[in-house]
Amino acid sequence: MKHILVLVSGNGTNLQALIDAERQSGLGNGTIAAVISDKPGAFALERAKNAGIPAFTLLPDKSLPKRERRLELSNRILAKACELKIDFIVCAGFLSILSGDIIAAYASRMINIHPSLLPKFGGQGMYGEKVHRAALDAGERESGCTVHFVDAGADTGQIILQRAIPVLSSDTPETLAERIHVQEHAAIVEAVRNMV
Ligand code: GAR
Repeated sequence: MKHILVLVSGNGTNLQALIDAERQSGLGNGTIAAVISDKPGAFALERAKNAGIPAFTLLPDKSLPKRERRLELSNRILAKACELKIDFIVCAGFLSILSGDIIAAYASRMINIHPSLLPKFGGQGMYGEKVHRAALDAGERESGCTVHFVDAGADTGQIILQRAIPVLSSDTPETLAERIHVQEHAAIVEAVRNMV
């Protein structure tokens, strides 16, 4: 079995979709071996615990400047991934930007899910509600989610799959986020099943 590491920062509904999918009908040749959060107390950690999955919190070192902070956290995640013999990494609502050796070490083996139809509404600082607000402000008629490989940029890696939905005239960032979340859960499971 391929060992999957899921990186999280928040609620962890995408992690839950993967946990449920593994329980119900498997994740291809993979199994979720560990979860890492970069935020203390993220509810995703509870989800991992409830599913009996080893979960770790690796916090960014706030005393470091931004670039060094990213690199230092990325290197600790890489070390943990090596220690746990991780084959495949899924960033599922993980808000730190990865850099350094982990990018090459897991090239084509590390994916991210983003709540827009990239290349629209991606990049640094574009997460959660901000993404949906930007799509509404731009008058988009459709939005959705993207699963892509992680490269050295922010949301710039090769696109693996997208799922689109219509934007409704009555949509608020919250209602759009909610409908896109449903698509994300299907997309992340599909991508992982096809890739591991
Ligand atoms: C998801 O919508 C995910 O696409 C987004 O954070 C949310 C996490 O939800 N990620 C980004 O915006 C990354 N730029 P979850 O914690 O319930 O899975």
